[in-house]
Amino acid sequence: MATASDEPVGSGARSPHHGKAVGLAVAAAVGGFLFGFDSSVINGAVKAFTDEFGLGDALSGFAVAVALLGCALGAWLGGRLADRWGRTRVMFLGAVLFFVSSILSGIAFGVWDLILWRAMAGIGIGIASVIAPAYIAEIAPAAIRGRLGSLQQLAIVIGIFAALLSDQLLALATPGEGADAAGELWFGLEAWRWMFIVAVIPATVYGVLALMIPESPRYLVARGKQDEALAVLTDVLGTRDEAATRLREIEQTIKADESAPKASLRGPRFGLLPLVWVGILLSVFQQFVGINVIFYYSNTLWQAVGFDESDSFTISTITSVTNVVVTFIAIALVDKVGRRPLLLIGSAGMALCLGLMALAFTQSYEIPDPDNAGEVLTQLPGSWGTVALIAANAFVVFFGATWGPLVWVLLGEMFPNRIRAAALGLAAAAQWIANFLITISFPPLLGAFGASVPYLMYAIFAVLSFFFTLWKVPETKGVELEDMEGLKVERRSRSAAA
Ligand code: GLC
Repeated sequence: MATASDEPVGSGARSPHHGKAVGLAVAAAVGGFLFGFDSSVINGAVKAFTDEFGLGDALSGFAVAVALLGCALGAWLGGRLADRWGRTRVMFLGAVLFFVSSILSGIAFGVWDLILWRAMAGIGIGIASVIAPAYIAEIAPAAIRGRLGSLQQLAIVIGIFAALLSDQLLALATPGEGADAAGELWFGLEAWRWMFIVAVIPATVYGVLALMIPESPRYLVARGKQDEALAVLTDVLGTRDEAATRLREIEQTIKADESAPKASLRGPRFGLLPLVWVGILLSVFQQFVGINVIFYYSNTLWQAVGFDESDSFTISTITSVTNVVVTFIAIALVDKVGRRPLLLIGSAGMALCLGLMALAFTQSYEIPDPDNAGEVLTQLPGSWGTVALIAANAFVVFFGATWGPLVWVLLGEMFPNRIRAAALGLAAAAQWIANFLITISFPPLLGAFGASVPYLMYAIFAVLSFFFTLWKVPETKGVELEDMEGLKVERRSRSAAA
């Protein structure tokens, strides 16, 4: 069977016909924007609602982390529903959940209903995290699929940045002494409440787009809607001939699937198919290198090198903008050099940076916190501070240009048609659980052992991710989705799909 790898990869990107595919991918990627926005918007609100509801550390931490558990549920559920209802209907469901949870979180009466609405937002985020990569992979021409898939990460990191900006602007707009999320803003509601409510704007855009874009051709064929599928394929591939060939291939794989035993994720060893395990482990490694610790707890690091709490907006802005900019490296390279080389470079670079951070923090010492009586601040001596700072930012560069986008690209494209949505849902659910574990374990690890130990742990995971990629991750560059069935999970898997 011919694969797009026969044509010079990247040449297709210049074809004027790809405009439609790019448009559809951008529309689906709005889900990524909501994912980034909704998962980080709470950072600006947490202090204000903790004070207003009189919460202790544990309950306040739970109110923040509960969304991650909702995400895991949403990802799993989204994968299952996408096969029954279709991709665009589930996208619409995600938009409704975003819309409703944003308003309800904003008018929460107390911590328990806030927790409930944040869990609901999490389900929306989890759904978006599965539907965007699946839909994009299913409409993208193989030659530019990596680039289009990377748009999801671009949207996620732009969403994280937009939340930061919107939280800051709302706090600044609040009358009273200085910027304060606890002050009343409009209609008697405090600024922190508006931080949640403004998400109705992107949620509405997402919902409208979900109603406008066509259903995925792979899903349509599976439902026997050949004519509709042909129309969509003609739109995204440019010519009717090419679309007809692709339609036949999709039909063949779907027929073969029907005669095969019932589609299942189960495998002979360790309970699941080897490829499903690869997806799960890609997800887990993406989180276990600690990227979200750098995002959520960046203040700890920066204060150690002499910045104070009031600089936190500048600090987070630098990290987020870096992450946005470096995503373009992935967009430029993913369909040219392939997925594996980028992941390998990313693992090596992240391991080095994290190792340096662990080393720098072995030099740390503590001083009394001038702003909080009875508390201490960790400090790093001069040049070690510089090392830690450069290493932390270089880590974000390596992650943002490789593992950040590529895991989403791979999860969207690596599974055969018959198990794609369900397998992707499971792998993404594993990712959210891994994110939850890393996020809640950092503060106690920091308290018990200092920062060196968690950074060293993340460095070890980065090293493991290198060998995992080397031995287990298949190359999918240019391979048609219909040919993914042949991917072998083994050493030298690069040749397996050819
Ligand atoms: C990836 C991760 C997500 C992280 C983001 C930051 O999308 O899945 O957890 O926040 O990258 O770049």
